[in-house]
Amino acid sequence: MLQLPKVIGHRGAAAYAPENTLASFQEARRRGATWVEIDVKLTADGVPIVMHDESLKRTMGVDRLVAETPRADLPAGVPTFEQAIACFAELGLGCNVEIKPCEGREVETAHVAVAALRRWWPASLPQPLLSSFKAASLVAAREAAPEFARAILLGKIEENWRARAEEVGAQGVNTNGIKLTAPHAVDIRKAGYALSVYTIDDGDVAKALVGMGVDCIITDAPDVILAAIA
Ligand code: G3P
Ligand code: MG
Repeated sequence: MLQLPKVIGHRGAAAYAPENTLASFQEARRRGATWVEIDVKLTADGVPIVMHDESLKRTMGVDRLVAETPRADLPAGVPTFEQAIACFAELGLGCNVEIKPCEGREVETAHVAVAALRRWWPASLPQPLLSSFKAASLVAAREAAPEFARAILLGKIEENWRARAEEVGAQGVNTNGIKLTAPHAVDIRKAGYALSVYTIDDGDVAKALVGMGVDCIITDAPDVILAAIA
């Protein structure tokens, strides 16, 4: 089975530092995380960057769509994927790379992300885990770079979960921990998939999920969850 850490810092350590920034990755490391989760999408000119939303407004205060912003116009706080990887190399952090394409760029974003990983991912770090809500992105990633493990992101486990995981050749299932039921957790693990849940910031909830067999908790507060499940 795919081996994952017990805890992954969501967007770095988003409870303590601005999400998906180099400061957030440093904070995650400082608070004990060995891996972080980031969201990768493309600028107008096809540069992979670390950003969750379609727009720069919420996190950067700039009312402009990422897909319409060239790299040269990016606010200073937004890391490129290359800068993020260099930061992980320095900090010794593994990464769950969520491919978060802007509408219509599912395949292109996956291709650019895996090309960047092939070029820049340091051999000293564990191989990254790719994940996405978009099947088209994971299929494109598998075709272009089958060596990177994949997890299908599912907002909720429905009856077709296994078909969706098989469609993208996933080794992992990443799902909303609040909606996960114990029978589904058992089924997913019995079928041989690594099971990760997002975004769990409460220690008691994390403990209950680990008790259900969850392998990995993705959290904004890695220190809280590490202490709770220790
Ligand atoms: O990858 C887990 C989680 O980040 C998925 O949802 O919206 O936070 O990217 P979101
Ligand atoms: Mg994400």
